[in-house]
Formats: sequence, structure tokens, C-alpha cells
Amino acid sequence: MKILLLGSGGREHALAWKITQSPKCDMLFVAPGNAGTAIIATNVAINPNDFDAVKKWVLAEQITMVVVGPEDPLVNGIYDFFKNDTELADIPVIGPSKHGAELEGSKEFAKKFLVKNNIPTAAYDSFTKDTVEQGCKFLETLQPPYVLKADGLAAGKGVLILQDLKEAQQELRNMLVDAKFGNASSKVVIEEFLDGIELSCFVLTDGKSYKLLPMAKDYKRIGEGDTGLNTGGMGAVSPVPFADAEFMQKIEERIVKPTIAGLQNDAIDYKGFVFIGLIKVGNDPFVIEYNVRMGDPETEVVIPRLKSDIVTLFEAVANQKLDEAVLEIDERSAATVMLVAGGYPEGYEKGKVITGLDKVEGSIAFHAGTKQDNGAIVTNGGRVIAVTSYGDSWDEAIKKSYQNIDKLHFDKMYFRKDIGFDL
Ligand code: AMP
Ligand code: GLY
Repeated sequence: MKILLLGSGGREHALAWKITQSPKCDMLFVAPGNAGTAIIATNVAINPNDFDAVKKWVLAEQITMVVVGPEDPLVNGIYDFFKNDTELADIPVIGPSKHGAELEGSKEFAKKFLVKNNIPTAAYDSFTKDTVEQGCKFLETLQPPYVLKADGLAAGKGVLILQDLKEAQQELRNMLVDAKFGNASSKVVIEEFLDGIELSCFVLTDGKSYKLLPMAKDYKRIGEGDTGLNTGGMGAVSPVPFADAEFMQKIEERIVKPTIAGLQNDAIDYKGFVFIGLIKVGNDPFVIEYNVRMGDPETEVVIPRLKSDIVTLFEAVANQKLDEAVLEIDERSAATVMLVAGGYPEGYEKGKVITGLDKVEGSIAFHAGTKQDNGAIVTNGGRVIAVTSYGDSWDEAIKKSYQNIDKLHFDKMYFRKDIGFDL
């Protein structure tokens, strides 16, 4: 098969790493990819949101499957673009339809879906410019902290958690009236604050049946002890020690099954990954958010724990035969630590030469923001390299990652030294 993978982060390097291990994969292209994917596949300078350019490439190269890494092409409707084009309709796209991608593209759509399917989630209401004063009154009925969410995609920045009522009301006005997050905040979801520990649940579905992938825990804050600004993710571990069999059963019965049944009941065409952001409150799971793709850096620990051939699974997804497929999981733990550019998630520099990659032993260096530059590998984003290791326990895995990180360097490199501290 000739496969095209869209995206350029650590998630895509991990997916490319797994796809190229499949005997079914004759050739893998990654658009646009990074310096890591360039080593194991062929990078193509195409923007995944330029569907016409994707089409041209797919037809020219006779691509037989497209795997979508990030959310924006999905929210923009790449699945439907293929399905509705006579030349492309037979080429499977791994990722949901535009309708399905609304689960991530619109917080309000997701909340309505959750409520309709009786899936546990925080109580909420949503407001627009015309109802901003009702929104301010609604905030008065809640206990702090206040959770405000821009309805649309806001590059991971659209959620505000505020302690002070007046400040929350002001921010609500900023979002609705002054378009703080542009069009993404023309609608705002206000929800009850849930106090607990977060974890990430990954499901692969063909729209009828599903396979539960390994659970993971992501470390989102920039600072040790989970302090400071939110990032895309500074590290991850899998499995999650506190997700025991009893808790997993609650997740499957209360959340995963009704999610897949809800997609089916609403005739939502969904053939891809569902990433369910969960929070454990007491001993019960609640849904914080849906994403319609894999998580990053969670992919860098979840995919390495997958023993089954991923291309076979993708074929089963495309043919809606996932119920017949077998999912084998590696018993070992996996952990990843993200190396980031100094200053991230605020301003940072690019183009710093990365050294030591050839010395990494017993870990996998998944590239996130990297590119090749005159024979060197240089930084090209805030999150630069995710160092993943296996171990008999998560702390053994993490130790191995830190040992290899000692050999890696770029100017102003930063990473958290406490991944897994709370487990
Ligand atoms: P989201 O983009 O919906 O994942 O929200 C970003 C982050 O805000 C989540 O990862 C949580 O840490 C936090 N968050 C979102 N909703 C809530 C909530 N209802 N209660 C507590 N924390 C929340
Ligand atoms: N690591 C969280 C995400 O991918 O959204």
C-alpha cells in the first residue's frame, strides 16, 4: 500500500514509526512531516489543509490510504472532501467526517452529544453575544472556579479557569463581545468545575464497533509539580496506574459504549480515533472533552504499546470490520518526556542545532518540531523531541528516558524532570 499521513508533530512521527513497521506498507509519505519522519518515510511539502494540493498528490502518487494526524483538516472536512469526489471516493481516509469532527470543533456540539447520550460530564450552559448578560447571571449561580470555553478551535488556548466572579464575567464579555478568540469565541460554554485527576482514553472506531487503546496520562503544565502555563503536553505515561480494572469498566460502560452508540444513532460517519479527555472525580469518570484525533504526546506512549499491525487495523476501520480485528497490547509501560524550546509555550526561537540524537540507546527519539537544515537537524517548533522508553514499570521507563536526555542538547533546551511525579 502507498499511504499518506498528514501532520508534522511527535504524534505523526510515532504513527509513521508504527505504519512503516507494517509489511502492508510499501511506501509512506508524510505531509509536511519533520526531520524524524524524513528518516523513515518521504516528506512532502503539502499543507494538510490545502485539500486540492492533497488531492493532486494522492492521484499523482496513486495513494491507497490517507491517515489524518491533526484535527484541523478533519474539522475542515477532509473526509467528506474525499468521499464526495468521484476520483477520491474509493481511497479510505482514517479520521471522522466533518459532522463527527464537530465533537472537537464545537464544545457546544460535544456537550449536547454528551447530555443526549447520558454520558457523565460537567453541567453547562452556552451563550452568545446576544445572551452575554444571561451568561453573567449564570456565572453568579455557580461556585468558583469558573470554567469558560470558547466553542470553536482556539489552538488549545480557548479554555479559561478563573477564581474571581467579576473577572470571569469580564472574560466572558471579552470572549463574546470583543472576540478574544476570534470566531472561535462567538459562542462560549460555561461549565461546572470538576475537581479530580485527568487521564486520556483512546478509542479506534469504524463507527459500529471499537477497540480500546491503552490509556495514558499527559502532563500539560510547563512547570514541575504541574505549575505554570498550559502547553500541548510535556510528557506522558501509559498505562495509568490509577485506572484499575474497576475504573476501566466504568469508563467503558458509562462513556465509551454510549459514545459509539451515540455516533451510530445520529448516523455520524466516524472511522478513526476518538480521544476522550477524562477526569476522575472520586471514583467516577467524567468527560472533559472529546478530540477526534490522537493526543500528542500521548501517541508517543500509546502507539509504542500497540503490538498489532496498525495498517491492518486501519483497513478494518475503513471496511467496518473492526469487530473481527485483534488488538494486542504490549504489557510493558511506556513513558515519554518532551524536550521543548526555552520560552515555550510563549515566545521561543527556532533553528537551534540538535546534537546527540545518534547516541540515544534504548529509547526512541520521536521528533516533534524539527527540520533538516544543511545536513543538521534543527529545532522548528516549541515542542522539539519526545523521548520515549519502555520499562517494566512507568518509573523504570521514565528513568531510561532521562538517561538518554542527558545525551541530547540544543540551545535553551528545557524539559520537566518530574514526569510521573503524582503517580
Ligand atoms: P479542554 O480544552 O476542554 O480539554 O480544557 C483544557 C483543560 O481545562 C483541561 O485539560 C482541564 O485541565 C481543564 N478543564 C476543562 N474543563 C474543566 C472542568 N469542567 N473542570 C475542571 N477543569 C476543566
Ligand atoms: N496532549 C493533549 C492533546 O493532544 O490535546
